Amino acid sequence: MDFDDALDRRSILMSMAAGSALLATPAAAAAPARGAAKGSFPKGFLWGASSAGHQTEGNNVSSDLWVVENMKPSPFRERSGDACDSYHRWDEDVALVKALGLNAYRFSIEWSRIEPEEGHFSLAELDHYRRCIAACRDAGIFPNVTLNHFSSPRWFAARGAWNKPDAPELFARYADRVSKHMGDLIGMAVPFNEPNAPLVVKWSPDMQSATGQPMDIASMSAPLMKLAAKKVGSDEFSSFLFSDPKVAVPAMIRAHELAMAALKAGPGKFPVGAIVSIGDDQAVDGGEAKVAQKRQEVYAQWLEAAGRSDFLGVQGYTRYLIGPEGPRKAGKDAQFTKSKWEYYPAAIGNIVRYAASQVKVPIYVTENGISTDDDAQRIAYINGALAGLKNAMDEGADVRGYFHWTLLDNWEWNEGFHQRFGLVDVDRTNFKRTIKPSGRHLGTIAKRNAI
Ligand code: BGC
Repeated sequence: MDFDDALDRRSILMSMAAGSALLATPAAAAAPARGAAKGSFPKGFLWGASSAGHQTEGNNVSSDLWVVENMKPSPFRERSGDACDSYHRWDEDVALVKALGLNAYRFSIEWSRIEPEEGHFSLAELDHYRRCIAACRDAGIFPNVTLNHFSSPRWFAARGAWNKPDAPELFARYADRVSKHMGDLIGMAVPFNEPNAPLVVKWSPDMQSATGQPMDIASMSAPLMKLAAKKVGSDEFSSFLFSDPKVAVPAMIRAHELAMAALKAGPGKFPVGAIVSIGDDQAVDGGEAKVAQKRQEVYAQWLEAAGRSDFLGVQGYTRYLIGPEGPRKAGKDAQFTKSKWEYYPAAIGNIVRYAASQVKVPIYVTENGISTDDDAQRIAYINGALAGLKNAMDEGADVRGYFHWTLLDNWEWNEGFHQRFGLVDVDRTNFKRTIKPSGRHLGTIAKRNAI
């Protein structure tokens, strides 16, 4: 079955299953028409916000990252704690997506809640996520579900995670449970968020650790994982963000394929894709060969996996200058965002152009955004990013949706709560959500389906 058939069949099934409310689901029920009028996006284009369980739900206590963030020393500036309390405020978050005027929501479900101990699946947690997805459906919001957004169960880490030969099967078993329990409601899915993330960090000169030092994941990882192993009383502890890509990538590619098969074998007929984190890599002073090397090392295997899936999700925020010797710091005149990445809204258009040259499957932008305290700067970034994206589409890139990172100001990994990528502010003393002007701005564009 091809991608468009899958979407058509899914929407028919959904309508039959749940009545007229679902007929109103905007989703890409049919392939969007190409070559829409200037400034307009194709009919059926998905406009969404993205989020992740561990960054927003709070108290993800059975996860590997909970262990790591509660160690001393920890690579994370502060613990995720209650995060945005989205685990309990799920309805509010869906209502916010709707209030903004978006028609899609990308979020992750937490493996460590669904399978808190190896082989023990929690019916209550499966029901919880089913309710979350159903809430999207009821609100006319297309649910885009990620099965693993960096965090895994603590037991999985304690047995060596992706270093163990049966890890892909364990992940596929979880995917199978999800598929059977809520597959009929899922709109689209990916097994992994940015499975190439550790490789991306390796090539990023500006990533900083909690202490402000450049991130050197390879040398940081061994002592951290040793400490975590001691904390949980295991011989071996391995967590994706600190894993060795040489081992993790092949295992996760197999896990992706097995999970995709499991998701497709269930009651839902939704597309399953692969997400790749991609930078706008620009060669300077003859750095073309280095750019090619980076693309080969960091993206190629996952782009191939996406090519064998139903769609590619691209995630990109900025550009990287690459000379013949490797990545360079941004130039003196560069402007920086709060996360110290170069302010470069045009990046996503270039990223999509590159992605479209590599795969034949439809593309979604599953993350793009900016950390800033200046919301007017976020509005300008959104305008620049969407103009670049639209140009790439006019040149022929088959892009079916744009998901902004992120819905809520949330827990940003090593940076803790210090970064502000959200379209919505969260008061952490009472979890009160307040929509920012940038959220309304993106929503207006979404409702118009045009820039
Ligand atoms: C990740 C998000 C993260 C965002 C901003 C992406 O790489 O998927 O979880 O918060 O970038 O750093």
